[in-house]
Amino acid sequence: MLTSQEIRQGFIEFFKQKGHTFVASSSVVPLDDPTLLFTNAGMNQYKDIFLGSEKRDYSRAVNSQKCIRVSGKHNDLEEVGKDTYHHTFFEMLGNWSFGDYFKDEAIAWAWELFTKVWKFDPERLWASVFGGDPTDGVEADTESEALWLKNSSLPTERILRFGKKDNFWEMGEIGPCGPCSEIHYDLGPENCDKKGVKHECCVNGDCGRFIELWNLVFIQYNRDETGQLKELPSKHVDTGAGLERIVAVLQNQPSNYDTDLFKPLLDKIAELTGKTYSAQIGNQVDNAFRVIADHVRMLTFSITDGSLPSNDGRGYVLRRILRRATRFGQLLDMHEPFIYKLVPTLVEQMGEVYPELPGRAQHVGNVIKAEEKSFIKTLERGISIFEADVREISEKKLSQLPGDKAFRLYDTYGFPLDLTQLMAQEKKLTVDVKGFEELMEQQRKRAQAAQKNAIYQADALSYQLPATDDTQKYHSHTLNARLLGYVHEDQYIDEGAVPKNTNVGLIFDRTCAYAEAGGQVGDNGTIAYGSSTFVFEDTIKAGAAVVHFGSTESDQITIGSEMTINIDPARLDTQRNHTATHLLQWALQKVLGDHAHQEGSLVCADYLRFDFTHSQALSAEQIEQVEKLVHQKIAEAAPVTFTVMPIDQARELGAMALFSEKYGEHVRVLAIGSETPDQLEEAFSREFCGGTHVNNTSEIGGFKITREESVATGVRRITALTGRALNEMLHLRNKQMDQLGQILKASPEQIINRVAALLDENKKLKKQLQKGTAADLKTTVEQLLEKAPSVGSARIIVGSLPTAPVDAIRTQIDWLRKKAPSSVTVLACATEENKVLLFAAVTDDLIKGKTLKAGDVVKAIAPIVGGGGGGRPQMAQAGGKNPEKIDDALAAAKDFINKKLS
Ligand code: ALA
Repeated sequence: MLTSQEIRQGFIEFFKQKGHTFVASSSVVPLDDPTLLFTNAGMNQYKDIFLGSEKRDYSRAVNSQKCIRVSGKHNDLEEVGKDTYHHTFFEMLGNWSFGDYFKDEAIAWAWELFTKVWKFDPERLWASVFGGDPTDGVEADTESEALWLKNSSLPTERILRFGKKDNFWEMGEIGPCGPCSEIHYDLGPENCDKKGVKHECCVNGDCGRFIELWNLVFIQYNRDETGQLKELPSKHVDTGAGLERIVAVLQNQPSNYDTDLFKPLLDKIAELTGKTYSAQIGNQVDNAFRVIADHVRMLTFSITDGSLPSNDGRGYVLRRILRRATRFGQLLDMHEPFIYKLVPTLVEQMGEVYPELPGRAQHVGNVIKAEEKSFIKTLERGISIFEADVREISEKKLSQLPGDKAFRLYDTYGFPLDLTQLMAQEKKLTVDVKGFEELMEQQRKRAQAAQKNAIYQADALSYQLPATDDTQKYHSHTLNARLLGYVHEDQYIDEGAVPKNTNVGLIFDRTCAYAEAGGQVGDNGTIAYGSSTFVFEDTIKAGAAVVHFGSTESDQITIGSEMTINIDPARLDTQRNHTATHLLQWALQKVLGDHAHQEGSLVCADYLRFDFTHSQALSAEQIEQVEKLVHQKIAEAAPVTFTVMPIDQARELGAMALFSEKYGEHVRVLAIGSETPDQLEEAFSREFCGGTHVNNTSEIGGFKITREESVATGVRRITALTGRALNEMLHLRNKQMDQLGQILKASPEQIINRVAALLDENKKLKKQLQKGTAADLKTTVEQLLEKAPSVGSARIIVGSLPTAPVDAIRTQIDWLRKKAPSSVTVLACATEENKVLLFAAVTDDLIKGKTLKAGDVVKAIAPIVGGGGGGRPQMAQAGGKNPEKIDDALAAAKDFINKKLS
């Protein structure tokens, strides 16, 4: 029996033999495409080739692509677990033609691979083709019909026509698309999961008997923003075959979950939960097994590729999936984090095919564990709120959970809507999704209101802005350039003069200013034109344009003029900090290990901030080691060079890249420690980087870590200073030391000893003081007892004490009780804060015989010192505000006691 590994490889080899180039799977996080949250098909990374805006050296490609379908046009989330062939994460095997072969070869090769190589039973195969759509004006695909008859043994009756829903494939609402032809497989009547209901098994018939295995898309259109189809300049082939389903058929298993792709995960879940997976449909426990196995794959791959659970966008999808899995975990009686324990199993199984997994496994586990933990904490409370809501609406005989209730569960208890829907479904209720979404929209609007600024305008206009040549940013700090136009309030203006005292964004034909990217802030500076100056505070890239934001006080600046751009010399400080972040990453990996990988950074003139994967705080020694290594490299005056090279070559050299960044075919590699750009192997640090740097590490001029903290689960942050800012900080510290020395009358070298001696002395004095208080207290109490009058055999001990701690006073009261076994005691003292403490104690004989109670005494006299209090008959205590009334209160106590005892 073929393993999933062999099947995946077999597909790739088959198409390599047909002249296809193997292309590695792209990240599941498509950072360059705002129309897409997750990579949802193998063709995503070729979108620009289809649209004609990108060229590659090959015209045929093959790969196995990591895909996620949980949002947007292709969303399988709701089906996951309920059936056995939908997944949030799956692998798509695909072959592509970029303007090369078309339908004939695509169909012939698909048939060849299926029937000759993998030996699928041809009698079980069916094909479908596009039946045409009048609204789009696209006709039925008779060509494909004819090609199936020509290239396969399929009879006409097993080549079916379907409409747009099934046989016209589109990536999203807009983008490349075209008619498609699918191959379906008949698993046999025993696999129909619609038994008992009136239903006829057929292709696209919504039961488990016929499953789609391979989709051949003939990309020939682009759907634009208005919904119109536009013919593309060339015709392409885009195919996608679900690996999980093919493996199930080839391994002769009834479901994807019974293949070697899922077995190890299901076994591990069984081991962790002590439950058994019995492969049933409609069984809650089996359902939970499948959902958890599916979701941990989605989570592991997307966190590996740089996503983190958060409260919006892609991060929120991750959070939802994780919470869903946690909830299903509860159905398996798991009330502690456990999903993270599945990560090593998955990584072991898939690490060879997707080499990015092993190095990130620890980080992925940490993130999942922390998320599980925090959700489990609120889950129980949320569930009880939900149950109260359910009781309330069933009492009202309603069948829908109102939107505001779903929103509260979301907002306060972190329940994603789909989780609430799932729970509602189990109670046979629906959720008012519209009401929920209205409340969400209101919340979004409130958040957005604070955000709008010029940068967003430029971004929104990017498609109509001209291109700026910014190659000089690496070489010069001043440049003459021609003003092409400016951005102002949702508009790009390319004639007239720049309005004065108004915030605008200038765009030139060329610039030496660095636009914010890769963590390095955008430049600021001045732009001179005759006697006028435009001061810019930020620079960003919008589309192909570099936009300089700022304003001018004169209205002399006319569009079309030549001007001189001057970058603020503080850019040199930024460069010091930027090169230092590279040294820092190198040093962190030396000290902590290779897992310490950059997650993000901020590089500006005043400091640098570097976020990296590591799960614990750094010790003082580790911080010192890191600093030392960086100091060494600064002292070595290592050269800093860069080269632009093909991305594969850069990866081969081991250059480090960011997981959360999208790179083109060519990348700029920044190397430290090689004399010339062509000796990169000698460099000790190699990173993908488009930022600006010093020429030589000695220019950094010093390095100090000022802070180390946690920013997210499994991610630490270091803040550090170099060069000018470090000197300023040292200068300030020095001044503070001098002042301290003056106060302490000590030289800087003596300060530590002097402070230690002072602290020691302070401790001793405190002790002495306590002893003195105790002695005073003891003497006073002894005198009070000596002078205490008697009524019968009972002693009345009333008086005031010196200021003392409560404990010390209580000790004395206990002592008095022993000395005078029949007595009533009332003591008062003023505190350091100028308040009053009152204490009363009565021995049991007086409580019984005379009904004298300590609580009553205190109650009677506390108001005199402006307070209140009480306690038990034996012992009571009160506070007050007026120490000057202590004597009055004690006199009142004597009266009260005498009355009771006489
Ligand atoms: N892009 C096609 C699909 O995802 C092959 O089905």
